[in-house]
Amino acid sequence: MRQFPAFFNLEGARIVVFGGGEEAARKLRLFHASGAEVVLVGGFDEAALAAEFDDWVDTRARSQIASALEGARLAIIAEESPAHRAEALAAVRARNIPVNVVDQPEDCDFTVPSILDRGEIVAAIGSGGAAPVLAKSIRAKLEALLPQRIGDLAALARSLRGFVGETIPDKSARRRYWERALSGPAAEAAYAGDLERAEALLRQQARAAGRARGVVHIVGAGPGDPELLTLKALRLIQEADVVYYDRLVSPEIIGLIRRDAARVPVGKSKGDHSVPQTEIHERLIASAREGLRVVRLKGGDPFIFGRGGEELEAVRAEGIEVHVVPGISSALGCAASAGVPLTHRDHAQTLTFVTGHAKAGGVPDLDWQALARPAQTVVVFMGVDTAPAIAEKLVAAGRAPTTPVAVIENGTRPDELRVFGTLAELPFLVEEEGIAGPALLIIGEVAGLPAEQGRIASIVTEASGLAWFSPDARQHTFKESAA
Ligand SMILES: C[S@@+](CC[C@H](N)C(=O)[O-])C[C@H]1O[C@@H](n2cnc3c(N)ncnc32)[C@H](O)[C@@H]1O
Repeated sequence: MRQFPAFFNLEGARIVVFGGGEEAARKLRLFHASGAEVVLVGGFDEAALAAEFDDWVDTRARSQIASALEGARLAIIAEESPAHRAEALAAVRARNIPVNVVDQPEDCDFTVPSILDRGEIVAAIGSGGAAPVLAKSIRAKLEALLPQRIGDLAALARSLRGFVGETIPDKSARRRYWERALSGPAAEAAYAGDLERAEALLRQQARAAGRARGVVHIVGAGPGDPELLTLKALRLIQEADVVYYDRLVSPEIIGLIRRDAARVPVGKSKGDHSVPQTEIHERLIASAREGLRVVRLKGGDPFIFGRGGEELEAVRAEGIEVHVVPGISSALGCAASAGVPLTHRDHAQTLTFVTGHAKAGGVPDLDWQALARPAQTVVVFMGVDTAPAIAEKLVAAGRAPTTPVAVIENGTRPDELRVFGTLAELPFLVEEEGIAGPALLIIGEVAGLPAEQGRIASIVTEASGLAWFSPDARQHTFKESAA
């Protein structure tokens, strides 16, 4: 950008135009209704032009250049005679008044853009003198886009600023009000020419917004890769006034939150509930009561081992508007990333998500017989610490020790680690690779497909019975990392 566009406030400012022909008249017309004090130095060439500008342009003789330029904010020289042009330019330069000289770009301090004037709404397209025709054609396209009466709507908005400010004292609530109001039915009424109705609607909506309570969105942030956010999640975190987020939400996603929104970590890691669940509920409710747009951002999907259900109930019980936005669960993200289809017509007709962590700690009391049936996939969340016990219980219930297993840590993130082995090897996979989580265990025939497809080394062991506990099993494990 070689030229900086700026809008001058012309109310009461003096503008001096030099000349008297059609070119000067064209420039004068730009200032009609601007509120500026417009002075023409020179005198009109034709009586018709003189008549057109008679009642709002102050015409002075060239001998009065000095008094005409007194206190001038801008000058435009549209003189045809080189001598008159030089005289005007010298006078203007001597007073440091910004000047435009028609068809003399080297003498110009500013250029006059192609202007689309809708009253309060003005668009100016400049080409720095390089291609004025192009600027005009862009203006023509904008003409078609902008409603004729958009300036009336802007003027109405200006007249209601004081009222809206008093009715909606909160700044961000007011911003949201204007965003909605200026594209809703009030705007339609203004565009249809019914300014009375437009004003009534704007006032009514402002009163409603002033009384409004906030809203809570419980939003799934997905497993970590920001590109796995839903469009709705992205929009909401960019509109929120406050975002309460979990430890599992990746830094890249936190970076997408609107800059002036409050970001509040309420991080929970297994066994370390830095903010107790009931306090999270209280904070969500208190923020909504302040009239804020609250986003509760949770890793994966809020309703899959995410306590989203409890938060929904708590907020709803207070009569506060609350919505849930699903996210891609880490089960789906990790499986896709590792190329492990969770169901497969030949290998898995059932898919079960289980937690590996009981409320009171240790392994939960699951139906191990059911989970041990073949041709099904079991995805274990929060199962890193209890992986040995889970493997033992599944084998004891009849699941083959050779059942393939995948352990995926930090799935879909730059530091994703994928480890493949068998159920017999599971305890060693976790321990030897130093898996600390967040990680998922995928247990079932489908976890062996990457090996079958030759994407990783063979993971089939000879383990049987208690042999699964043998450290020899370790030699069959294979590790992949996203890096
Ligand atoms: C409290 S649960 C939340 C699950 C989440 N609501 C979801 O749908 O993915 C936390 C567990 O999800 C799993 N998890 C979450 N994000 C993960 C990721 N990026 N990679 C692997 N596992 C993940 C881990 O098992 C972790 O212990």
